[in-house]
Amino acid sequence: MSDHSLLLKTRLGEQSMQDFVRDFRRYLKQDVMPGIRQVFDKQVSPDYERDNGRPFENYHEVRRTMIANDYYQFWSAMQRRSQEMMWESVAEPAERQLDELIARAERLAAERPAGGSLELDPELPIPRYHTAHDIHLQPGAYHTEFTENDVAAGAIYEAGLPIYIDGELGPDNDRIGMALIKFYEGKFADARPKRILDMGCTVGNSTLPWATHYPDAEVHAIDVAAPCLRYAHAKAELAGVPVHYAQRNAECTGFDAESFDVVLSHIMIHETSKAALKNLIGESYRLLKPGGVMLHLDVPRGQDPFGQFMSQWEVYNNNEVFAAYLTDVDLAALAVAAGFEPGKAWMDGAPPYTGINHAYNTQGFKWPTLVAIK
Ligand SMILES: C[S@@+](CC[C@H](N)C(=O)[O-])C[C@H]1O[C@@H](n2cnc3c(N)ncnc32)[C@H](O)[C@@H]1O
Repeated sequence: MSDHSLLLKTRLGEQSMQDFVRDFRRYLKQDVMPGIRQVFDKQVSPDYERDNGRPFENYHEVRRTMIANDYYQFWSAMQRRSQEMMWESVAEPAERQLDELIARAERLAAERPAGGSLELDPELPIPRYHTAHDIHLQPGAYHTEFTENDVAAGAIYEAGLPIYIDGELGPDNDRIGMALIKFYEGKFADARPKRILDMGCTVGNSTLPWATHYPDAEVHAIDVAAPCLRYAHAKAELAGVPVHYAQRNAECTGFDAESFDVVLSHIMIHETSKAALKNLIGESYRLLKPGGVMLHLDVPRGQDPFGQFMSQWEVYNNNEVFAAYLTDVDLAALAVAAGFEPGKAWMDGAPPYTGINHAYNTQGFKWPTLVAIK
């Protein structure tokens, strides 16, 4: 990972723990998980067809059958434990260095060498879909503040991500943002956006490439989680990239109507809710200038009933509860309901910026992306 002075430093024991968890997860992904497909194809699927006189018709049927399978249960238990261990391995160094990190973030926020900004709103209600459980098992999720001016959630997320995804988002964790920029440029070759809004930015990993790629644009990024925003702001200032971060809810941002050329999000929508999804698409429509573009990129949901079942592992075992609903939702129809013209809203796929070996979608991997033009 690229070094920036907000990154957690690890002691030998901490580093070896992180290395172990990363290797353990790689082993599960490369050596154990592929066996689930084999068990499914060679044993579970033929047995089901024999007993029912027909193949599996949907991922619900696959799920009901597969969760009783020993091989799947073994992988699932190990996978869950590896996720818990991942957070343990980064929480300890974060706790040890927290005072120092907070001091650094405060200093950068005061000096603002890149000219970005940070606006926090301690009164902003945190949506229930974040407070009801620790999302993807991150202790305290994104928003919890353990101390004054806390940045722990941001530091923990930043350090956990390369372990979670085995470094596939690159040394700066920014390849999702780069994939979406490439996709946007491919579709809208002449676009020169002047104002860009990134919703659900967390620590700004995907925001920074937009701000770097469009240096003349005013880039805004919002999140409900103050500890992540403080970290994001400090990180951007350190990188010399001006971004305007604000603690606002994507469902109701408070920005002026028709004030952005592009409104986008990267892997945010699966962590919201049914009601929130409608609201934030409606809000995206409201915020766009005529001719502006909405882009909501999210995680793949599987290409067949087996892949859909596997992608839902995160739902039942990793507190990504809302993602269950997203598998069946027609996002383009939601965009039309929000005001976009039919024919100007569609589902597309942003190809990965570089090779990515996604656990459930190794063939023809793309990031499913809702695109709409106002
Ligand atoms: C998986 S993270 C997104 C990662 C980030 N976009 C990136 O590409 O690195 C989801 C983020 O969305 C934020 N979020 C979820 N619902 C939100 C809402 N209604 N308004 C603003 N932020 C929200 C969460 O707090 C969290 O930081």
